[in-house]
Amino acid sequence: MAFKITRRNWLRSSAMIAAGSVIPIQSWANGITIPKGTSPTGEIEPDLNSFNDFENPNQLRIRLNANENPYGPSDNAKMALRQAIDTSFRYPFTETKELKSMIAEKYGLTPEHVALGGGSTEILTMAGMAFGLQNGSVISAFPTFRTLLDTARRFDCEWIQVPLDENYKHDLAAIKDAVQPNTRLVYICNPNNPTGTLLTPDDLQNFCIETAARVPVFIDEAYTEFLDDPQKNSVIPLIHNGVDIIVAKTFSKIYGMAGLRVGYALGSPERIKLLEKYGVSLSIITKTSVEAAKACLGDSGFENFCRNKNKEARDLTYRVIKEAGYSMYIPSYTSFVMFPINMEGKSFLTKMEKRGVGVRAWQFNDRYWCRVSIGTLEDMKGFGEILKEIS
Ligand SMILES: Cc1ncc(COP(=O)(O)O)c(C=O)c1O
Repeated sequence: MAFKITRRNWLRSSAMIAAGSVIPIQSWANGITIPKGTSPTGEIEPDLNSFNDFENPNQLRIRLNANENPYGPSDNAKMALRQAIDTSFRYPFTETKELKSMIAEKYGLTPEHVALGGGSTEILTMAGMAFGLQNGSVISAFPTFRTLLDTARRFDCEWIQVPLDENYKHDLAAIKDAVQPNTRLVYICNPNNPTGTLLTPDDLQNFCIETAARVPVFIDEAYTEFLDDPQKNSVIPLIHNGVDIIVAKTFSKIYGMAGLRVGYALGSPERIKLLEKYGVSLSIITKTSVEAAKACLGDSGFENFCRNKNKEARDLTYRVIKEAGYSMYIPSYTSFVMFPINMEGKSFLTKMEKRGVGVRAWQFNDRYWCRVSIGTLEDMKGFGEILKEIS
């Protein structure tokens, strides 16, 4: 099982290395060889368990490692949750059907165009299985959100990684070039996690139309609602035109329901049927979660509130990064910010965690990077203080 890189990018990277502008962290023969200690996703594994140290819940004072929205769930969702408790001895057969219909209606589609999942993680896993089992290859940018690709790889599918361009955006031309007869799926995360970069709507739509004529394209829209104009940046209208795309959305981000686990996919009825073969959605989504999702879907007041709060705290994050002495960050269109750090990734994570702050770290191009989630203003001030202290 090899990780491959495209010829075009190999040539470009080789030229950059020759010019001394990039220190190779990977060497390529027939594919990328991953050096010891580096995960194939470029992500640095933390020493401490910064996610769920239940035995010591106070270990992390400031949790900025999972892109959670600190303002959710909305009041409407909380009320629905409370009301659903009394009837939660029942399976949510009717409620999941209702949620599917509501989602379909929101986008002018039919319930047959919608698959529900336990968070969009389940949707990504379903797609990773459905296409990974076809034993070819899946293509994505590098670095990007790994769930679908990791899953496909577990089912013996190759993962072809196409480096982001010099602005840390998807290199759509190179991704298109990388499509081969054995390509089963192309995965695009827009805006991209972990870099927070955004493609222009025209570029992405044209890419989908051209590429999906050859192979299905999966667009992960987990963060589009943080944009000023989510609709303009969504490719969902292409589904109406029969373009072979699957779009994943989640209630975890703008709706602040990460702990309630509801996500969904939109696509042609044929693609949705294929995904649903690999899902366990009815047994995963709870009655309470479905009711909360129904109560907040399309709540534009709450969406605007979270979008504005996120923007305010993101601007503060840029300032505290600069004040801590870091000259650069990648301008973000999401609820997290990535910036290069001046020390080895694991020791950075450990230093932050020992001071009670959870963030994430990556290694790609020639450097180590921190990805910090956007929390409250207070969270970001605390993050800034610790960042200054360890820098
Ligand atoms: C790009 C992207 N897609 C999907 C997910 C999965 O989210 P969930 O399973 O909570 O819907 C995440 C979570 O961080 C994400 O960043």
